Amino acid sequence: MARHIVASTSEIPPGGNKVVDVAGRDIVVFHVNGEFFALLNRCPHEGAPLEKAACVARLTSPEPGVYERSRVGEMLRCPWHGWEFDMRNGQSWFDPKRVKIRSYPVAVERGDELEKGPYVAETFPVHVEDSYVIVEV
Ligand code: FES
Repeated sequence: MARHIVASTSEIPPGGNKVVDVAGRDIVVFHVNGEFFALLNRCPHEGAPLEKAACVARLTSPEPGVYERSRVGEMLRCPWHGWEFDMRNGQSWFDPKRVKIRSYPVAVERGDELEKGPYVAETFPVHVEDSYVIVEV
């Protein structure tokens, strides 16, 4: 897998997302609760763009009439027909063994920690004041 710098962390606000083209793939990167998740921007049902999906909580019921919310913002609800997916791994909520969205590893690294390329150019002093989101495809 190659590493691709797709955004600075400040480009994707908490609760927001950014669609990026990585090696010809339409990928959406979400920022939820301080973490970043990268998924193919296409619902496996009929292809809805997941950038428009609602980021909802996991809802469970330990007993009738009692509801508990957890993992707030980590569940995706497709905008077209409401299929739900776990943002951490792309698995569907209703059939996790057979239906999922392709997910990609994400890392956040400081700009001064990124790998240097093979080319050399004249350089100038630079101050790093932000971090970047890196997606592996
Ligand atoms: S296209 Fe996503 S649920 Fe139908």
